Formats: sequence, C-alpha cells, structure tokens
Amino acid sequence: MTKYTLFTNKPVEIGPDSGYDNYIMAIESSCDETACSIVKNGREVIANVVASQIKTHAQFGGVIPEIAAREHLDAINIIIEEAFKQAKENAGIDPKDITAFAGTVGPGLVGCLLVGLNAAKTLALVYDKPFIGVNHLNAHLCGNYLDTDLKPPFMALLVSGGHTQIIDVESYSKQTIIGETIDDATGEAYDKVARLIGLPYPGGPKLDKMAHEGNPYAFKLPEAHVDALNFSFSGLKTAVLRLVKSFDKDNLPTADICASFQECVSSTLIHKVKKALSNTDYKQVVIAGGVAANSEIRKKMFDLEKEGYSVFAPPMKYCTDNAAMVASCAYFNTNTFDDIDVEVFSRVK
Ligand code: KG4
Ligand code: ZN
Repeated sequence: MTKYTLFTNKPVEIGPDSGYDNYIMAIESSCDETACSIVKNGREVIANVVASQIKTHAQFGGVIPEIAAREHLDAINIIIEEAFKQAKENAGIDPKDITAFAGTVGPGLVGCLLVGLNAAKTLALVYDKPFIGVNHLNAHLCGNYLDTDLKPPFMALLVSGGHTQIIDVESYSKQTIIGETIDDATGEAYDKVARLIGLPYPGGPKLDKMAHEGNPYAFKLPEAHVDALNFSFSGLKTAVLRLVKSFDKDNLPTADICASFQECVSSTLIHKVKKALSNTDYKQVVIAGGVAANSEIRKKMFDLEKEGYSVFAPPMKYCTDNAAMVASCAYFNTNTFDDIDVEVFSRVK
C-alpha cells in the first residue's frame, strides 16, 4: 500500500509487501488509557507505553469523559518521549527511522480521541512521514498479530466494553461482521452486573475474580436465543437484577451470582463462535478486545484446541487498550484512512 509523506508528498510503501522493515509509531487515546507504541513489521513491539487513568475514574464509578480528555493531555508528551526512549534502547531506532505515524480515529470518546489523533498527526507533520488513521475495533483484532505468526483466514470473537461481534477475517484487510449484539455489549453487561451487586469499578475484572470463588451452576440464568450469530445480553442483566432482589441485601450470594453469570455469558459466546466456525473450513479462531482478558471466556475458547482448532488470544497487556495493536493495524490493514484531514468519530460507522 502506498502512502505519502505529509510535506514533501513522497511515496512510501507500507505493509507486508513493502519489501523492507517498517517501524510504525501509534497513539491510542479512545477511552481511559493514553498509549504510545512502536512496532516493527506489524508484529514485533519495540516500545510500548500505557498510562492508565483507572485510579482517577474509580472514585466516580466510571469514566468521566471531560476528566479523561484532560488526563490524556497531561500524559501525551510524556508517553511519546518514553516510547522514543524505549525504541532507541531496544532497537537503536530514532524518530527519523519511523516509517509512518498512526492514531486511533474512533470509535471512542471524542475529546479523548482528539488528543491522541492530533499528537499523531503533528508527529507525522514534524518528521515528514505518512499519517495513518486506525479504527479501534480493527486494532483490537490486530492485537493477535503481535508476537505471533497468525495469518488470515480466521474467525474472530471481538468482545469489548462497547462491542460484541463475530468477524470473518478473510484476509488482512477483508473482514466481515457476521454476528453482533442487538443490545448490550459483553463488557457493558459485565460492568452493569458488577455495579448491581456492589462491586467497585472497573467491574468486569472484579466480577471475573469473584466468580472463581463461586459455583457456576448455583443459578440457572437464561441464555438468550437470538437469530443466527447475533447476541443479546439485556435479558440476562434483568434476570440477575431479579435474582439479586430475591435475596436479603446482607446475605447476597455474590460469588455464586458472579460465577453463574460468567458461566452463562461464556457459554453463549462459545456456542455462537462454534456455530460460525461450522459454516466455514477455518482452522484458526481468535479472541480480541478488553473482555478477551476474561479467564472463563479464554478457557472456553482454548478448549476449542481439543476440537482441532488453533486458538489465539493476545496476552493481557494487548487485550485492554494499547497502541501496539493500533500500530499493527496500520501496517496490516489497507482499509485504514490516510488522510491528514480525517476526523474523530464516536460510534461505529
Ligand atoms: O476493549 P476495552 O479495553 O475498551 C473498549 O474498547 O471498550 O474493554 C473494556 C471492557 C470493560 O467493560 C471491562 O469491564 C472489560 O473490558 N473487562 C473484562 C475483564 N477485563 C476487562 N470483563 C470481564 N472480565 C475481565 N477479566
Ligand atoms: Zn478497546
């Protein structure tokens, strides 16, 4: 794929067919992590910095967009400098050696996205390199290329705070969403149920931890029957609410509720993934997105190895928001934007 330097308009080949080593620096700031990475040839991470705002938002029980945007501003220069430092130490790479600069365009919180995207565009202008805008969801998928030799085609389950999708990845740049949630996303369901039973923010990981202390079969929660490869989690959330209300507040069997909820969600997801796989001859399946960090969902996905599939899941640090996945996406995915005028967007287009 040919991109152009921003001032001198020189052509630059980017991607697996470019015939030389690419070093892409990417910035991610779509929600509450300010992140900067430099990745060689879409797979080898030579710098990776993440500044998390979890502690700031924990006191409010959720992400406050205005505060998040301000914290991105405070962190952005520091993390860029740190990434350049790591690249020099780890691989002898200087800013002038960067092939292109990339930034997350959306979906995400607009005020937050603006900070990282403008920083990435500015770097591309200053160093006269191409700029590549990246879709955050595509980037989550590409987290699976980091430190692996995974190549399409494969089936992907993308589970995050805002999305739940089954994606048929035919090639690096041809991806088709073949199933998705008709209401709540998986991470959203986790966070809402966590709040309902009184677990602190961030709810998803806390609920996951608590589930290990409970019996997954203590309560039979309903697995929604939705058309084809789609999902629905709002009925499950209501069922948990009803269950919680049926107990005295001081005697809530929290661990059993967590374990039963986790069992229901993970089974639902795996059933649909298996169904999607059965319609193809793919032998590879991947999981991506923040909820890919969930222990039970990972376990059930890896159980597919017993059925002859190769299963990929990013290590924890590349499941939650990071910029290495954005750099990988800029390298592999020719569907990315390259226009310096590209604007941020908040929802899936
Ligand atoms: O992908 P991500 O970092 O942000 C979005 O792009 O949405 O995902 C964040 C979501 C949150 O809902 C969080 O609660 C959930 O991922 N999450 C988990 C776990 N770790 C993160 N949910 C369940 N179990 C976990 N271990
Ligand atoms: Zn994300």
